[in-house]
Formats: sequence, C-alpha cells, structure tokens
Amino acid sequence: MTDTIETIATRYSCRNFKSDPLPEADVQAIARAALQTPSARNRQPWHFSIVTDKALIDEFDNLGMEKLRVDNVAAYERTISRGGRLLYNAPAMVVISAQHIDGLMSSGLDVGIATATVALAAKGLGIDSCICGLASQTGHGHETEPPYDRLGIPEGYEYVIAVLLGYEAGEPGAPHALDESKLTFVS
Ligand SMILES: Cc1cc2nc3c(=O)[nH]c(=O)nc-3n(C[C@H](O)[C@H](O)[C@H](O)COP(=O)(O)O)c2cc1C
Repeated sequence: MTDTIETIATRYSCRNFKSDPLPEADVQAIARAALQTPSARNRQPWHFSIVTDKALIDEFDNLGMEKLRVDNVAAYERTISRGGRLLYNAPAMVVISAQHIDGLMSSGLDVGIATATVALAAKGLGIDSCICGLASQTGHGHETEPPYDRLGIPEGYEYVIAVLLGYEAGEPGAPHALDESKLTFVS
C-alpha cells in the first residue's frame, strides 16, 4: 500500500482525545495542506480558523452542549452517550467557513473537499481527527459574536464545519465497514 492509501484506509473518527497539544510544525503542515485543496475555478471559497487554544475549544464545547440540550435532544443524548463532550476534548480544531458565491452547491463541495484534506493530512502525520458537523450548530450565525469572533471568520463567510484534531485517548477505532454495493465498475 502507498502511504496515501494507508492513510485513507486507517483514518477513523476519534471521539476521545488526549489533551496533549499538537506539534507546531504539524499544525503548520495541516494549515498548508488545507490551502492546497482544489476548488471549482480555483475560487477557494473558504476560510480556515486553526484553533490550538484548548480553553477556547472547551468554551465552544460548553456552548454547543447547551445549545444541543435545548434545540436537538436526539443529538444531545447521542453526544452524552459518547462521553458528553461535543468536541471530544480535542486540543485543536480547524473550523472551515464558506463564502457562498453561487449558493451552497459549489462552495459546499469545495469545503467538503477541504474537510477531507484536513482530516487526511492530519492522519498522514499520525494525528487523529473527527469531522464534526454539530460544532457548527453554535457557531453558524454567530460568527461575529464572542467567543466566535476570535475565529477571524471574514464578513460574508459562514461557519460550516470543524475538524477536531488530536491523539486518541483510548483504543484506536476501526475504520467503518465498506459497502461494496456502492461501487459500479464499468469497463
Ligand atoms: C459532514 C460530516 C459531519 C459529521 N459530523 C459529526 C458530528 O457532528 N459528530 C461526530 O461525532 N461525528 C461526525 N461525523 C463523523 C461520521 O459520523 C463518521 O465519519 C462516520 O460515522 C464514518 O465513520 P468513520 O469516520 O470512523 O469512518 C461527521 C462526518 C461528516 C463527513
């Protein structure tokens, strides 16, 4: 297996991070990989907020859990059953915001590709991740309000998703089962 195939095959969603910070060189490499993501017409309709302030991440976690408790009981209970932390004690995260140029279709796809790029770049450096759509439940629509204003999201951009980063605190997770019925080979 090539390194890239191995990286893709071994990534899984980590939901229990150690508090250990990431090496600064790895943070910089992940940030650079994010910028290397391809996008339609090279418009790069995104902004990446690279957060390594654990206290701020914990603040987002508390706000998110409170929002879920009130607005999304099913997701709240699922998160409680997974340990009770929306952001799983991650010591770092990349918040990806989108500029909606031609509607969600184009920039949404671009941001999705960026999301995968960040998660796979991290895995390639031995860093676990969890793509966390629920993180946006609190940030979306509050981009200019404290504490979200610390993310530096430019005007006209919306908080879409976060990729949580760190090191697994428990047993390594297994990659999800592959569904071969999703493949059609045409030759
Ligand atoms: C767009 C997107 C949003 C996701 N949001 C969450 C989330 O809010 N919380 C969570 O724990 N996992 C989230 N996940 C992780 C998925 O649950 C996970 O990727 C899926 O179950 C497959 O498992 P694997 O990542 O271990 O292969 C999200 C994944 C994607 C791609």
